Amino acid sequence: MINLIIMFLIMSTIGILTLPFCVSDKMEPILLIHGGAGDIPESRVANKIAGLKKSVDIGFKFLQNGGNALDAVEAAVRYMEDDENFNAGYGSVLNLDGEVEMDASIMVGSNLGAGAVTVVKDIAHPISLARLVMEKTPHVLFAGAGANKLAEEHGIPTVAPGSLVTKAAKDALERFKRKGGDLTEIGHKNPGDVGTVGAVALDCHGNLAAATSTGGINGKMVGRSSDTCMLGSGTYADNDFGAVSTTGHGETIAKYCLAISIIREMGIGKSAQTATKETLENMTKRLNNTAGAITLSKNGDPGIYFTSRRMGWAYRKGNELHYGINHDEHEIECLKSL
Ligand SMILES: *[C@@H]1O[C@H](CO)[C@@H](O)[C@H](O)[C@H]1NC(C)=O
Ligand SMILES: *[C@@H]1O[C@H](CO)[C@@H](O)[C@H](O)[C@H]1NC(C)=O
Repeated sequence: MINLIIMFLIMSTIGILTLPFCVSDKMEPILLIHGGAGDIPESRVANKIAGLKKSVDIGFKFLQNGGNALDAVEAAVRYMEDDENFNAGYGSVLNLDGEVEMDASIMVGSNLGAGAVTVVKDIAHPISLARLVMEKTPHVLFAGAGANKLAEEHGIPTVAPGSLVTKAAKDALERFKRKGGDLTEIGHKNPGDVGTVGAVALDCHGNLAAATSTGGINGKMVGRSSDTCMLGSGTYADNDFGAVSTTGHGETIAKYCLAISIIREMGIGKSAQTATKETLENMTKRLNNTAGAITLSKNGDPGIYFTSRRMGWAYRKGNELHYGINHDEHEIECLKSL
């Protein structure tokens, strides 16, 4: 018996018994998410914050006990795809024909593995389909009907046509058609038609992942594809630099290659926060449209910034939950330890 105890003590000291978990000198996990940048009306703020808190809580569980960043970002985004308060999955905005057409992408920083889908219909969780593209095919991007075929072949159900359409999305399209508008999800002409959701995570093994999912822009032309399916614009993750997920005016983000532009600044030594802020400010100055981004450095330092009026965000690190939606708002809640 004494022998066993001594053996246990020796093994614990050298770390053998802690292998499935993280040893203390590894990275401290963090999950950072956003729920869309834009001109979010006051009436929608409370529901968005409630959804963000729930999403980050669900995703963070996957980072505990040695879990990996990829599972965490997928779970957080899946939750927001189900929540109609976000423009992704159920609750997506509509194209001019009144249909939901969605984009999503996912990337892991260890080997730059990536998968994306664009203009997909009737899939409840486009982010999981993007992951399937990464893990089960030799390709990175599937579009339209081919993406649905791939989903079917791998047992991902196609939901009934129209079942991702909410009343709020129908009303927003009606308003858009009545009033016209510049094709933007974030201008004053279409308050409420905001969106895109995303997540970035660092796990205790030092691996980064990023995921982004969207219904796009209210009243978009049929077949419009967005930055959210484009690696380097909507999503990027590289363990050598950091991870980024973006949101806002998609065409602008795509032209500026926003995600990789932020990564590049971290590559020349800027912090995640400085790289995110300066890149977004320069983009908005240059192209006159707004956006937001969430960033993690390779060490897990967060960067959060938006040039739009609002962007909901939240992160969880250790027992602290951080969140905000207005400029200069940063709430912190201490959660009970497990
Ligand atoms: C932003 O623009 C300024 C002025 O042109 C430039 O000095 C700076 O390097 C730019 N920074 C980023 C992150 O693009
Ligand atoms: C930028 O956008 C604002 C608001 O839509 C508009 O009033 C302004 O003229 C635009 N500026 C340029 C340089 O396009």
